[in-house]
Amino acid sequence: MARGELVAWGAALGRGLSAPAIIALSGDLGAGKTTLAQAICAGYGVLDHVTSPTFALVHQYRGAPAMVFHLDLYRIESAADLANLGWDDLLDANAIVLVEWPEHARGALPPDAMRIALEHVPGAPELRRVSW
Ligand SMILES: Nc1ncnc2c1ncn2[C@@H]1O[C@H](COP(=O)(O)OP(=O)(O)O)[C@@H](O)[C@H]1O
Ligand SMILES: [Mg+2]
Repeated sequence: MARGELVAWGAALGRGLSAPAIIALSGDLGAGKTTLAQAICAGYGVLDHVTSPTFALVHQYRGAPAMVFHLDLYRIESAADLANLGWDDLLDANAIVLVEWPEHARGALPPDAMRIALEHVPGAPELRRVSW
């Protein structure tokens, strides 16, 4: 998908969401995880500005029907790190949870999470392969 297609797809996905929902966004640096999270948030009705949570680890957004938590697990290395983040409470909240680098949660990601993978397309820097 081109960037515009990805954003339109993400917004449509966001419009159809209802809490609770957990969405895992996989892909390398620059694959478009945050871009897609922004589109999902916009579709869901988030009014806050959505940025990469790389340093804060968790961002919480308002303006939507339910709370939206946006996580970046890149720096998470253990189950203890995940617990310190409040992972269990986030999953138990009646919320939309968007997770970048979900691989770092290993087995802690619930089986009913929606999994979306973004990949660069060799030779086409403007495109991403999207699978879910
Ligand atoms: N088809 C595309 N889909 C998503 N992002 C794209 C696409 N083409 C180019 N880009 C660019 O790639 C970058 C993706 O960054 P970002 O969403 O922060 O990725 P990640 O969170 O996976 O590191 C952005 O600068 C975006 O404009
Ligand atoms: Mg990101």
